[in-house]
Amino acid sequence: MDRLFVDTPGGSYPIVINKGFQNIAEEVKKAISKVSSAIVISDSNVAPLYADKLVAEIETVFEKVSVFTFEAGEKSKHLGTINEIYSFMLDKKADRSTVVFGLGGGVCGDMAGFAAATFMRGVDFIQVPTTLLSQVDSSVGGKVGVDFNGVKNIVGAFYQPKLVYINTDTLDTLPEREFNAGMAEVIKYGPIFSPDVYSFVQKNKENIKKSELWTIEKIIKDCCAVKAQVVNEDEKESGLREILNFGHTIGHAVETLKEFSLLHGECVAIGMAAAMKISTDKGYVTKEKVKTLEDILEYFDLPVRVSGLAEDDIYKTLFLDKKARNNKIGFVLIEKIGTPLRTKELTEEEIRNGIRYIIEE
Ligand SMILES: NC(=O)c1ccc[n+]([C@@H]2O[C@H](COP(=O)([O-])OP(=O)(O)OC[C@H]3O[C@@H](n4cnc5c(N)ncnc54)[C@H](O)[C@@H]3O)[C@@H](O)[C@H]2O)c1
Ligand SMILES: [Zn+2]
Repeated sequence: MDRLFVDTPGGSYPIVINKGFQNIAEEVKKAISKVSSAIVISDSNVAPLYADKLVAEIETVFEKVSVFTFEAGEKSKHLGTINEIYSFMLDKKADRSTVVFGLGGGVCGDMAGFAAATFMRGVDFIQVPTTLLSQVDSSVGGKVGVDFNGVKNIVGAFYQPKLVYINTDTLDTLPEREFNAGMAEVIKYGPIFSPDVYSFVQKNKENIKKSELWTIEKIIKDCCAVKAQVVNEDEKESGLREILNFGHTIGHAVETLKEFSLLHGECVAIGMAAAMKISTDKGYVTKEKVKTLEDILEYFDLPVRVSGLAEDDIYKTLFLDKKARNNKIGFVLIEKIGTPLRTKELTEEEIRNGIRYIIEE
């Protein structure tokens, strides 16, 4: 078992990494002083696999545990599902000492967290991430929310969980495409922060692909440590935390335009290729560095180009993003591996060159 800590003004909490759910009840008791009932929020793929196992463990702590299930997928990440969660919570007589669990991937965690942040102005919340992406990224740091009118994560809050409990066994059932999408966010930590994570992934790519446990455990631990460090320094994304958006500017536009037929991690892979290309155009990194990044993404079957989209549509969609302020688009470029550069000063032409680069004829 591994244990890390997140320490932000909005809350301090442990990240526990374990094989199995066996000590989650103890961890819950340590993390939360007053507990009555629990609401487990999960999706239609994860609930049949893991809800019973989780409930069996936490039943020893709570008087009552109820499970709410929504249809799996990004398409469910909207206020309609949040409404259903509120109704369910009222039905189950949830009160101020009810604890909300998010059992699932990033879609589930973001929504469960948003419901917890807003129900009765905030009830305690525990993340139980079950995808690689959510275990290395979304469950840590307290960003919660939903999509609205097709714009990604435009409604939300900063709301830290009381505990992040990562059961690595859950990855056994994760479809390969989803695992690979998670690898996009793992690889992201290399260029923006950690040459160590980057070279570990390059050197051990075969073992990672075979899901050898020691490599997966190491990746999760190292990525959570990076994420925790970044979030500790800048909880509310007024500076440093922006580096985590590497690949997400163009990535989010592609994700929106593809109407979620591509996975979030796949769009981030495409977006990273674009941002890296802009970084070479600006003279920061060599073309070889772009190739190295694309090679490792492609090794994990991630796309680095997109077809069926027009340059203009991608460009215009950039301005819908919540991070576009005063018509300025924030980009994270790479100065050298491990050293990011945040800028809002790219010209239209520089951005369009990056977009053209990732469009497949
Ligand atoms: N809050 C943040 O800081 C943050 C960071 C990155 C991404 N995100 C958000 O996370 C979301 C993407 O997360 P995701 O990739 O985990 O998607 P997801 O939650 O949709 O999960 C992916 C798929 O895998 C299934 N699944 C989950 N765990 C499983 C398991 N153990 N076994 C079998 N199937 C399983 C799910 O049912 C779903 O079909 C996006 O909405 C993105 O915006 C948030
Ligand atoms: Zn992401």
